[in-house]
Amino acid sequence: MRGPVCTTSVSVTPQAVRARSGRCYRARVTSTVSPPTLRIRELRKDERRMAAGLTARAMRDNPTTIAMFGDEPLDRLVGMLSIWTAFFHHPAPPQLGAFYRGCLVGVGAAVPPGGCIGDALGADADDLAAGEAPPIGHPGRAQYVRAKYAVHDLATPHWHVGPVAVEPRFQGRRIGETLMQALLDIMDEDGSPSWGETDTEANVRFYRALGWELVKTEEVIGIPLWFLVRGGKGAPIEIPQG
Ligand SMILES: CC(C)(COP(=O)(O)OP(=O)(O)OC[C@H]1O[C@@H](n2cnc3c(N)ncnc32)[C@H](O)[C@@H]1OP(=O)(O)O)[C@@H](O)C(=O)NCCC(=O)NCCS
Repeated sequence: MRGPVCTTSVSVTPQAVRARSGRCYRARVTSTVSPPTLRIRELRKDERRMAAGLTARAMRDNPTTIAMFGDEPLDRLVGMLSIWTAFFHHPAPPQLGAFYRGCLVGVGAAVPPGGCIGDALGADADDLAAGEAPPIGHPGRAQYVRAKYAVHDLATPHWHVGPVAVEPRFQGRRIGETLMQALLDIMDEDGSPSWGETDTEANVRFYRALGWELVKTEEVIGIPLWFLVRGGKGAPIEIPQG
């Protein structure tokens, strides 16, 4: 049986739209560009590989990806595909897709409090991060980067946002914003703060326009990483120094 359709027409004033799960995603307007009409819903099992492929293509040329996998774009695509296939293989909702007429055009996920990289790597993160970075292309280099993220992770229980990715040819059309707003509705309802790191200044603008605050910048494998936080209704947030 088909669930109710989640259609986001965000060129109008705030409105509620209902996803298959029955959850309401509010659409808010922050820019004058009209996004395409999208359906935002949880990814199905058979869509996980597609989501990994889209994320790999979207992040293929990000500075961290280049620093991890090198100058050959094909190597970067393969490296990213492996990382994101593993990520989507262990689904921890929300893992949302933005669909345009049934076609996946964007992906947005957040790992719930207690399940993010800091918790998953535990004490190993400190040892890994204190060591030498494995060379470009080495399979351990991505794990080293994860350990660095973990060291800088927020100590307070939090949502860890990512990936947020839009099919490369369709970026800048508010698909990312629509996805992020759906994630924010879920995370805000829970009340824990949200945390994320990113590696381009354009992405920092994207996050800040949606209410995130920049808390620190750190260099990881030679790349500046911006760490951002948003909201939280609970205890004061302690920002780790790393
Ligand atoms: C970051 C991303 C998810 C934003 O989604 P989007 O649909 O392109 O962006 P929107 O149209 O909703 O919002 C536009 C804002 O996003 C930011 N942005 C970041 N990367 C952008 C890109 N490649 N193209 C256009 N805008 C981009 C800009 O701040 C832009 O606002 P501005 O034009 O006023 O500067 C998307 O561009 C993307 O997939 N980028 C590559 C992967 C990535 O870096 N993901 C984030 C990892 S933390």
